[in-house]
Amino acid sequence: MDAKVRQKTLRMLSNGVYVLTSRSDDRYGAATVTWVSQVSFKPPLVMAALRRERNVFKCLVESRIAALHIVADGQHEIARTFFFPTRANCTTINGEPFAQGRTAAPILANLPAHIECQVEQIVDTEGDHALVILRVVEAQLRGDVRPLTVAQTPWNYGG
Ligand SMILES: Cc1cc2nc3c(=O)[nH]c(=O)nc-3n(C[C@H](O)[C@H](O)[C@H](O)COP(=O)(O)O)c2cc1C
Repeated sequence: MDAKVRQKTLRMLSNGVYVLTSRSDDRYGAATVTWVSQVSFKPPLVMAALRRERNVFKCLVESRIAALHIVADGQHEIARTFFFPTRANCTTINGEPFAQGRTAAPILANLPAHIECQVEQIVDTEGDHALVILRVVEAQLRGDVRPLTVAQTPWNYGG
């Protein structure tokens, strides 16, 4: 296999841009993620692939809760904020305001839609990311949203 062709081809998989948040007591984690997909209609399950050293992964392993936010077209700057290590106080994460959701996961006020989830299963692959399967327990949508996709950005995560 040609490594360059493999990288280019895998980068053609269509992915969205999301921000995943979690907390465990007074520790917070938030990261922009793209390796996300729905896994089941009934019950509603989604999956996210996360590196084990991510703060959001460490939090959700402990608390078993997380919130997945849709980033809208034009909200590149907010997504970029969550490429950087999590810095939280009681009202903001990486400078973005949040409130506590139904599950106690942090809900980012400036992103237009989110789901709140309970961790259903963590599949510990041999790879550099673990697969987290999440059960959707709450969903909120504010207005008409056009979701941002990786293809609309100069960013890459894959290969
Ligand atoms: C375009 C892009 C997509 C990303 N997608 C993922 C992803 O799907 N899973 C993951 O674990 N990290 C992903 N990351 C990395 C996290 O956004 C980044 O490491 C973040 O700083 C993690 O926060 P932390 O340092 O507080 O753990 C991605 C980064 C970029 C630039």
